Amino acid sequence: MSTPTFMPLLNSIAVNEAKGQKLLSAWASTAKDPKLKEALTFVAIREGEHAMAFTKRMCELGCAVDETSAYQVFKNFDDLMACACSAATDAEKVEMLTRGERSEGERHQNEPKDPFRGFFKDTTIDPQTGALLGRYIAEERDSGRLLRGEYDRVCAEARGRKNHAVDDIASLKACVSSLEAELKSLRKMIAAGR
Ligand SMILES: [Fe+2]
Repeated sequence: MSTPTFMPLLNSIAVNEAKGQKLLSAWASTAKDPKLKEALTFVAIREGEHAMAFTKRMCELGCAVDETSAYQVFKNFDDLMACACSAATDAEKVEMLTRGERSEGERHQNEPKDPFRGFFKDTTIDPQTGALLGRYIAEERDSGRLLRGEYDRVCAEARGRKNHAVDDIASLKACVSSLEAELKSLRKMIAAGR
């Protein structure tokens, strides 16, 4: 039996989903926000299951996973892992791990291209592999929606806290200025012997 032409696609999915699980699990274990942690854990489990399901399908078709020939979704995986494991805040990790692509304005104006649009171009895909690919694509899109929602919420909350801190500093400065003015007039009164 010759190697199916869609094998590189299955191989890349198996390799990158395993990396996705590693990355999201590392982030989940350090996440401070409980809802974000839950979402990261859930998607990490999905990623791991996808890696195993595609590894199994490749095995059924007589092929083994080969990381060296796989398309690498994560170009700087070690750096991303270091970031996921770091003590940075969740909002900072969203910025670093999604390279700032998650700003709401940018996302709404310029929706990212669908990375799955070419998956069924190969007309030799058998029904069993096709069913697996279909489930995979639907779950990936669902994971994307879940994570984007959490990323937007966490970043909006962090911005709110920052604005609150700026307001607090401004009111403290105003308070100090009025105290200084009061002190100045008291000194004048003392100097005038009143
Ligand atoms: Fe994935």
